[in-house]
Amino acid sequence: MKMINDKISDFACLLKSITENNITEEYVSWLNDKEVNKFLDTKSATLESQKEYVRKQNKDKNIIFLGIYAIQESHIDLPPSTQNYKLIGTLKYDLKESIVSIMIGDKTYWNKGYGSKAIKLFVEYIKKKYPQVREIKAGVIKKNIGSIRMFEKCGFKITKDKQGHSWWMKYGYI
Ligand SMILES: CC(C)(COP(=O)(O)OP(=O)(O)OC[C@H]1O[C@@H](n2cnc3c(N)ncnc32)[C@H](O)[C@@H]1OP(=O)(O)O)[C@@H](O)C(=O)NCCC(=O)NCCS
Repeated sequence: MKMINDKISDFACLLKSITENNITEEYVSWLNDKEVNKFLDTKSATLESQKEYVRKQNKDKNIIFLGIYAIQESHIDLPPSTQNYKLIGTLKYDLKESIVSIMIGDKTYWNKGYGSKAIKLFVEYIKKKYPQVREIKAGVIKKNIGSIRMFEKCGFKITKDKQGHSWWMKYGYI
């Protein structure tokens, strides 16, 4: 089974592999929330479907599937360790297609910079770990203003490859 053991982190945000043990009722409720899933392919979820989904991602050698963790203010004075962080979403990367996708499931963390922090940390990780990767893509629905704004803050640009209601955004580097 392929798992990413590296922790990708700065103080506020940590990216780390998750397993089916991290799938809780709260996690499932994010995917069933109409505001969260509005621009996602998944429109409904159960504990079993999500445990199976995570198992599948972790078995696939072309997929990096990570939990996005946020530092908890009540623990801000403690040395950083996973216990001081709350799982707030997920990030998925398809190595073959070089496509990244993201969900901050806990809406109380929206518009606080966690999404862009997670993407920036991940882009730096890919640059270091996979130097052969020349560009990273993200598919965004044109109406998903928050997502487009977030990717723009991370250096992604809207490309001309329009696909119906979606745009491809690209982060490229030499
Ligand atoms: C899209 C998503 C990942 C963004 O995460 P986030 O942590 O809120 O992102 P950030 O806070 O880093 O950045 C969001 C930016 O969009 C802005 N924004 C959000 N909604 C907006 C709107 N309706 N109009 C204009 N700007 C908006 C925010 O103000 C912020 O910009 P700022 O920092 O300049 O103020 C999160 O909302 C999410 O997971 N949504 C549900 C799933 C989803 O749509 N995933 C993306 C699929 S491509």
